[in-house]
Amino acid sequence: MERLQKIIANKGYCSRRKAEELILDGKVTVNGQVVNTLGFKTDKNAIIFVDGHELSDENYEYYLLNKPRGYISAVKDDKKRKVVTELIETDKRIYPVGRLDYDTTGLLILTNDGELANILMHPKNNVEKTYIAKIKGILNMDELYRLKKGIKIDGIICRPTKVKIKKYDKEKNTSLVYIAIVEGRNHIVKKLLKAVNHEVIKLKRESFGFLNLGNLQSGEYRLLNKKEVKKLYAYKK
Ligand code: URA
Repeated sequence: MERLQKIIANKGYCSRRKAEELILDGKVTVNGQVVNTLGFKTDKNAIIFVDGHELSDENYEYYLLNKPRGYISAVKDDKKRKVVTELIETDKRIYPVGRLDYDTTGLLILTNDGELANILMHPKNNVEKTYIAKIKGILNMDELYRLKKGIKIDGIICRPTKVKIKKYDKEKNTSLVYIAIVEGRNHIVKKLLKAVNHEVIKLKRESFGFLNLGNLQSGEYRLLNKKEVKKLYAYKK
């Protein structure tokens, strides 16, 4: 059983606050009865109408985007910068699952399914993300070892599941590093590399759980299929 406003928001219809307004305005019915108070709880299988529209799982959409540089992982930005949802043609209220920085590229999932978004973002579900980072300087064996062992970031240890040096460019004084990581704190890869004294010049997320970019070019996206969505749900512990 969950609060009605949470179910409405998780079904991707609108925000929780907006759902509360709609409930108080008498615009929501549950199994044929108007519910106009906020404490009401029901289950996900109840038949819910909001403003005359039935909420159903058919309203859900799931996208895999190859995010270009120069986009904010949000649905709107106060500073009027471009946002990732502009890249996807839909009339649904989709939003990104987690965040890639403005200058980070690569795999980003967007959906209006709040339940799945929560599953994928919850640290206990151990969804592995992999990144390729181009860094300034040559990552040496000692630094590699420290990364593998785990480093305290903002007081909490972060231990990548894999770290590999892909290549060095001695002339340009850069290295290409592969990092697989389960946790999803903001700027975590940049912070890890900074902790071993390397600045990230470029960062790309190559995979998210079992999903990878395939042939998607920068700025391109595709819908996830039912099998993929089911497999994402299966990350729930
Ligand atoms: N880690 C970062 O530092 N930035 C990202 O965008 C993603 C992970």
